[in-house]
Amino acid sequence: MIQIDDTAIEPFIEDLDADDLDKVRARVRDAHDAVVEKTGVGSDMLGWRDLLMEPDDALLEEIEATARRLRRDADVLLCLGIGGSYLGARAVIDALTPYFSDDQTPADDEEVEGKSAHPTRPPEVLFGGHHLSGAYLRELLDHLEGKSVFVNVISKSGTTLETALSFRLVRNWMDEQFDEADDRIIVTTDPTKGALNELREERGYKKYAIPRDVGGRFSVLTPVGLLPIAAAGIDIRSFFYGAAAMRERIDKADWHAAHDYATYRYLMLQAGYDIEVLAHFEPRLNGIGRWWQQLFGESEGKEGTGLYPSVVQYSTDLHSLGQYMQEGQRTMMETFLMAEDDGGDLEIPRMDANLDGLNYTAGQTLSDVTMGAYEGTQAAHTEGGVPNLTLWIERIEPGALGELLYFFMHAVAVSGYTLGVNPFNQPGVEAYKSEMYDRLGR
Ligand code: PA5
Repeated sequence: MIQIDDTAIEPFIEDLDADDLDKVRARVRDAHDAVVEKTGVGSDMLGWRDLLMEPDDALLEEIEATARRLRRDADVLLCLGIGGSYLGARAVIDALTPYFSDDQTPADDEEVEGKSAHPTRPPEVLFGGHHLSGAYLRELLDHLEGKSVFVNVISKSGTTLETALSFRLVRNWMDEQFDEADDRIIVTTDPTKGALNELREERGYKKYAIPRDVGGRFSVLTPVGLLPIAAAGIDIRSFFYGAAAMRERIDKADWHAAHDYATYRYLMLQAGYDIEVLAHFEPRLNGIGRWWQQLFGESEGKEGTGLYPSVVQYSTDLHSLGQYMQEGQRTMMETFLMAEDDGGDLEIPRMDANLDGLNYTAGQTLSDVTMGAYEGTQAAHTEGGVPNLTLWIERIEPGALGELLYFFMHAVAVSGYTLGVNPFNQPGVEAYKSEMYDRLGR
């Protein structure tokens, strides 16, 4: 379940005429209908909803089998991809795997030839192909030396420069390292088109297809996201079915929190708040923030409109951007993303000497302190003129994250239609590419 708390945004819409609010709600309702009935612009790219309506359990099973093989044979799974071809997997893996992992192989482990770490431990999932840093790639290849490496190259077009160049270099390295390098490479790409399909035909790589009607930033529930997530040891069925349940809930409801979210964002943009700051208090949610940023930025930022999406991690960023949030230009709305159970039940001890003066917190947990920080920040920002709302999830676990990611995908589709843009294309991304290719002499 996702709950929206909109009490702190109400003071900012009080001046609105009830008719105006009703008109915006009606507009959001129409936008929702256009998504569900596939009558809006770009509706041929709504496959991310269809795949939840008719779950392909055989595909989930097949991905789980590949993931088991990777967990058995790989020390490292290197995922190469950019934008929608990596942000979702990274977001979910960062959110659901431990902050720190122990690299020691327990003595009673079964030995598996060629794999140097714990045979049943998920491989280290690393990412590349999402920028052009040569230093990163060089250091990455050094880090991979002597390890059992598998590669998942993910690119729908197969032509994205960052990913394609990295794959060329990594492929070359794999050929030098392993006799059976081709058996260690998995491609995730368009069903038939593009350079990765040609390479795959030549080299016989294992392949997963990305449905044509699912765009990159909506693809986390396809093999694009599911394979790396499963390889990391995360329960993809709970994740997938969490998203499916959320789709059903939103479609069946007369009105849903996702519609409130779209309504408030639209109202705030009309009122001149043209930046949305997604604020969370849990470092493991940073990846979700980065994914959300792409989803909303690429879907809405066109034709001179859209809220600029920005992410902050509190309380860390209260000590840097907090000043601006409190007293800078009043052009931001803020969406807090909170988990009712954040897993931070570490109790603060009472110290006899109380030299740091913190005994007033003794007996509370760090979650309690985080709650105090959230409530205090929300009150201060409301007072300081920042319209804000809070999205509550129950806890950070696979099912709840599936729900959350679908919630955002549905909300952005509705939001884009409410703004009058096509939320499923990204024509602006091509401009830098053509300028860059000119300079590179393509
Ligand atoms: O959301 C999108 O469509 C983009 O972010 C793409 O995913 C990104 O540009 C990568 O494209 P490709 O998968 O074709 O390499």
